[in-house]
This record gives sequence, C-alpha cells and structure tokens, in this order.
Amino acid sequence: MYKDFVNFVREVYQSGDFIPLHGPVFAGNEKKYICDAIDTTFVSSVSEYVDQFEQKLCEFTGAGYAISVVNGTAAIHLALHSLGVGASDEVITQPLTFVATCNAIVYTGAQPIFVDVDWDTMGLSPDRLESFLESHGQIKAGVTFNRITGKRIAACLPMHTFGHPVRIHEIVKICEKWNIPVVEDAAESIGSTCLNQHCGTFTTIGVMSFNGNKIITTGGGGALLTDDGELAGKLKFLSTTAKNPHVWKYRHDELGFNYRMPGLNAALGCAQMEQLSDKIQDKRQIAKAYGNFFASQSYDFVHEREDCYANYWLNTLIMPNEEDKDAFLEYTNKQGIMTRPAWDPMHFHDRFSSNPGVDLGVSEDLYRRAVNIPSSSRV
Ligand SMILES: Cc1ncc(COP(=O)(O)O)c(C=O)c1O
Repeated sequence: MYKDFVNFVREVYQSGDFIPLHGPVFAGNEKKYICDAIDTTFVSSVSEYVDQFEQKLCEFTGAGYAISVVNGTAAIHLALHSLGVGASDEVITQPLTFVATCNAIVYTGAQPIFVDVDWDTMGLSPDRLESFLESHGQIKAGVTFNRITGKRIAACLPMHTFGHPVRIHEIVKICEKWNIPVVEDAAESIGSTCLNQHCGTFTTIGVMSFNGNKIITTGGGGALLTDDGELAGKLKFLSTTAKNPHVWKYRHDELGFNYRMPGLNAALGCAQMEQLSDKIQDKRQIAKAYGNFFASQSYDFVHEREDCYANYWLNTLIMPNEEDKDAFLEYTNKQGIMTRPAWDPMHFHDRFSSNPGVDLGVSEDLYRRAVNIPSSSRV
C-alpha cells in the first residue's frame, strides 16, 4: 500500500517534488493588499485591513464579533484571562491537542486537567466529560470544584481536532449544568460546521489560528469570536494594552496585552479570505479522493460525522498498529511525502501529568496509530 500511496499523492498534487503536510497558497490579492498597507503607512494594528479582516471573519463564521490577534495561542490565553481563569484554577481539556492549548492555560497560572477524546471526532468526549464531573466535580455556591484537588474548575476547552467538529452541543449542555464556561479551540477548524453552525461560535468565546500551516494564513495570527458585544469590547481593550480611551493620555488601570494583529498581517488575511471557500472545496475533493483510495486498500480513513461539515484541515489515516504507523512514516518521509503522527498526548509530558488515574486510552491509541497525510489545498 505504501508505494501506491506515494504514487497516489503525487498524482493528486501533480508533483514529483517534496510534498508538505500543509503549505500556504497565495493565489489572489495578497501582494496588492500588502503593498497598499505599506503605502498607507498604517502597518501596525491601527489599520483598515484589521477592521476589514474582522468583518470578513464575522461574515464567514456568523459570529457577532471577531477580534484579531497575533496568534491562536495568544487568543486562547486572552479568552481564558477575560473569563477570570487564574492561579490555582483548573481547566478541563483533551490530551490529544497541540501544546499551545495547554501552554495558554498555564500562562494564566491555571493547570490543565485531561478528559479523553472520542474515537470518531478525536476531540473531547462528552460521555467522558460527564463521568469525570460526576466523579470529580463538586458544586459549592454555584461554582464547580475538583473534589480531589480542591481547585476550582474554571473553564472547559474542547478542540476540533484536525478540523473535525467535536460533539460541541453535548459538551455545552454538560458544562451549563456544572456552571463551567466553555472556550472552543477552533484553531484548526475555519470552514467546519456542526448542524450548519460554524465551529468557534457555539460557546462564550471561540478561538482561531491563521498560522502558515492553516487553511488561510496571515503569516502569524489568530482571532477570538464571540456574540457578546460587551465581552468583545473587553477583549479588544485587553488585546491593545488595556489603554484607557483618551485622545492623548497613556493610562492603563488594568493588566493588558500587546496582542492585536498588525495591519500587514490582516492585509494578507483579507486576500486569503477571498479564496477561503474555494480552498475548502478543493480540500474536500482531496479528502474524498483519499477516502476512496483507502477504502480500496481496506485502511481506515477519518470521515466527517453525520450532521457535520469538515474542512479536512489535516486528513487522517488510522493505521492497524504502532509498528505499521512507524513503517509508514519512515517510508513516506523518505520518499519526500511529508506525513506526521498525531501529537504526543499532553499527559505524556511531565509538566502536564496532573490528573493520574483518569483513563485517557483513546488519546493514547490515536497517538499510536493516527497519521496525518498531505492536505494542502491546490488553489
Ligand atoms: C489546536 C491548536 N490550538 C492552538 C494553536 C495555536 O495557534 P498559533 O500557532 O496561531 O499560536 C494551534 C495551531 O497552531 C492548534 O493547532
């Protein structure tokens, strides 16, 4: 199968050269808008391109407000900070995620605690979440604490893995019952929807990333999505050093962050947004072709769930076992086809091994068997 796979990928991408996992494509107005931003001299965060980029994000996702920032990690940090997450708190998340999710939790002073993922979504399992809260949660005066550690469970941070929507409706319902705010890490899921609603818009705040490996890029960049106008104002204020509004005075009564997206990056983003729908269509065609290829080889390929529409950010193959996964990675990378395993689960890192005794077997199994294969759009 390995050799056929390499030939198949070369055919899909019409290339005999190195094929990356996910590379950017700049096929539109990128240079024009960046030059224009330079001509205006407004290259930093006070820029019409920043406003335009945020407007385009709202139109595309249906979010009431978008606040663009320097990257997705900063966006998660700011989201948690704005909800009051801080030292001595815990935040529930999934072990199968990129390290940025957990780093952002730690930036607030809180600790991540882990609940396992579902096999089909590869994202936080509502069933596991419910049983974790039943066994570990305790509500005191309307606030949920971890009865083992005594710490407040200040937020829940599910992630839509590789662009496949997590069971977000169920997660939100469970968290409502326990009075736990939810922040969606939608860094990988622009264009993905669940029951026709865009990922990142189901919860108090959703977060996106526009890193160079995402479907659209601003070079480096991220955004916070919310429907709450007051919160949006606060997020914008906090991301611009929390400067009190005044024509000339510099006064900052609250801790702020220099997280606002610069205009140069937003100019790139505006051009990329114009191509987003075409990119997603193309990626879905590639996913369909992979699906057919792997079905003919009796290999397990991750398909979108019923009622969901996936952007197939990174196409995912589940190998029969760890040895096959390693052999596949070895062979394909040697052939110039970039493939990668899923991330090392977060609880495998000493600094994140905070809740022993909780079964995280699905994340561990996916880590041993999942492989991401080339997924860039061709347009
Ligand atoms: C799941 C997840 N969360 C957060 C991030 C952080 O985004 P950024 O790289 O823009 O900081 C990324 C992406 O890189 C990600 O994949």
